[in-house]
Amino acid sequence: MGHDKLRKFAENETFRCLLQPSAEQVLSKGYANLTDHPVKGHWIEQMFGGHPGEIVLELGCGKGEYTLELARRNPDKNYIGVDIKGARLWRGAKTATAEGLPNVAFLRTRIEFITAFFGPGEVSEIWLTFSDPQLRASENKRLSSALFLDRYRNFLKPEGIIHLKTDSRFLFEYTRAVACVNGLPILAETTDLYGQGTPHHLPAEVREVQTFYESMFLEMGLPITYMEFRPWKEGPYLNPRDPDDFDSARWRELEGPRRSFGHQ
Ligand SMILES: C[S@@+](CC[C@H](N)C(=O)[O-])C[C@H]1O[C@@H](n2cnc3c(N)ncnc32)[C@H](O)[C@@H]1O
Repeated sequence: MGHDKLRKFAENETFRCLLQPSAEQVLSKGYANLTDHPVKGHWIEQMFGGHPGEIVLELGCGKGEYTLELARRNPDKNYIGVDIKGARLWRGAKTATAEGLPNVAFLRTRIEFITAFFGPGEVSEIWLTFSDPQLRASENKRLSSALFLDRYRNFLKPEGIIHLKTDSRFLFEYTRAVACVNGLPILAETTDLYGQGTPHHLPAEVREVQTFYESMFLEMGLPITYMEFRPWKEGPYLNPRDPDDFDSARWRELEGPRRSFGHQ
């Protein structure tokens, strides 16, 4: 491992806003029976120093720029950026510490383990920002699949919202199909967030705040898609049937070779 990474990992241990549980801790009883972390249900007291406010997650936050900027703009809410990469989280935690932001925390874990960290109704909103569309992998790896929605339901408020921002038309259409087959209300959607015809009622921050990957894709002139939906429902979640509900081959084909960029 490089010297710079080692230095960042050492400094990560000093950040109060960064929680880095070991995988062994979460997996002590196996994958099918994750061990709850003591912070579950207690984020406000344990990580936000009692700072009241709804909790908003950014899953796959990278260096955390989006989490940080939303937190600066909305001091009445608490933001948690989640990612597995320690060197990226270092950037976010370093900035949050330097600015003394009371409403920002970071969690280093695999998103697959997320139910071990949040209690029922503890979270109000989830942002999925430029997640890997998992073009050729099992759909269970997509962060907006039935499997993940079932995980989020364990801790999202019934009226809670998922925001999906992505350059991937494949992931956008897939998520739309998941929402449709499960009868989940879509509150806003656009296939070109910065183009004509963007829904007027979107909060300004959806366009004004950009993630690291988003700025790169915008510089390349690529359209950014956005969708907002309520994922809560009773009963099991269904996967879209291929090709009736979601034509994966067609959208994969349209996605083209550019998908390898940025998700490496
Ligand atoms: C393409 S980057 C996007 C980063 C940031 N959201 C942005 O838009 O700039 C995807 C991020 O998701 C993280 N990630 C992907 N799969 C993950 C998983 N299963 N658990 C935790 N983090 C994951 C990666 O480490 C990476 O930082």
